[in-house]
Amino acid sequence: TLDDLPDDLSGQRALVRVDLNLPMKDGRATDLTRARAVAPTILELSDRGAKVLLLAHYGRPKGERHSTLSMSEIVGELERVIDKEVMFIPEVEGPVVEQSVGILSAGDIGLLENTRFWPGEEANDADFAKAIAANGDFFVNDAFSAAHRAHATTEGLAHLLPSYAGRAMQKELEALDAALGNPTPPVAAVVGGAKVSTKLAVLENLSRRVQHLIIGGGMANTFLAANGVDVGKSLCEHDLTDTARAIMDAADGAGCTIHLPYDVVVAKEFAANPPSLRTCNVHEVAADEMILDIGPQATEALGDVLKTCATLVWNGPLGAFETPPFDEATVALAKTAAALTQDGSLTSVAGGGDTVAALAHAGVTDDVTYVSTAGGAFLEWMEGKELPGVAALSA
Ligand code: 3PG
Repeated sequence: TLDDLPDDLSGQRALVRVDLNLPMKDGRATDLTRARAVAPTILELSDRGAKVLLLAHYGRPKGERHSTLSMSEIVGELERVIDKEVMFIPEVEGPVVEQSVGILSAGDIGLLENTRFWPGEEANDADFAKAIAANGDFFVNDAFSAAHRAHATTEGLAHLLPSYAGRAMQKELEALDAALGNPTPPVAAVVGGAKVSTKLAVLENLSRRVQHLIIGGGMANTFLAANGVDVGKSLCEHDLTDTARAIMDAADGAGCTIHLPYDVVVAKEFAANPPSLRTCNVHEVAADEMILDIGPQATEALGDVLKTCATLVWNGPLGAFETPPFDEATVALAKTAAALTQDGSLTSVAGGGDTVAALAHAGVTDDVTYVSTAGGAFLEWMEGKELPGVAALSA
């Protein structure tokens, strides 16, 4: 971590990988969470006197320059967040970077161009990484959300320079370790979302590692169908019922209880507050109805499960939460998790785009232990995979 560096970094060149892949609209970021997350590392290195050279990607330009995906679009947003001037440097290696570093004083900050403009980034090309490393004395990786990519600036650089985890990366790894690496049992996992097919590896990994696996969202329908329940016209991957059955059997053998809803909120059409809305037992779903949320009894029972647990990891909503009233189960369970966390009986870690939005919608973002803004990286971590960007730091 940054604690392993000397206190005084005067004039040392810090190459710092951050995730500034911000959602932008009309030249402004619609969400600054990622910029805020890396601000402490940038400011600490600057305060300690380093010349801070930020490396980041933006979008997926596939090895070519695109004016709309230049980091020059992002630099103003970053300046606002850290309240300091940032020099935009339109290259990532070579003489332009070298000259710019020469102009920077101790504590100054530069943002290099989108690393993905160069094919060597995604190819993790050794020569490309070496050329970048030539302008740094040490490397800091503060981009957990890009750590599932083995790219030159997320993985390669760590083999070329003395390397450290930034504060955001450190915080993320500590939180994830407390949730799944080395958690206090009993552990509950909530996995929701539309499709089993997108989270098969997550379900398989968790069913071996947690004591309670709560399945919600559209994917619960596939599990219900595997149990012989007629789910009407609900979203359901009928070709995956055997897979769902195998996951339930494996969970059973590993001492993991799978929780599926026994009452559900259904409607004949997917719309806000539809006239056909009703709550029923899962065995009473009519052929022309679809399941859109977990029912109140099941939600209360899930809250009771959380009360017996010490650790919770959450990815994915329980219902179609963006359309009322199908947000009710997700909001209720999020509030229970937040209250238990505030009481000190639960360590709760949540991640993934939909989950972050659902917690914000429930108004509990600040009341859970940790919210990860990582998307793909959070899922791969839940799958139990080693993330190349993290592995390279500890190599
Ligand atoms: C993200 O937005 O999840 C990260 O910045 C990684 O982006 P990517 O999926 O394009 O690699």
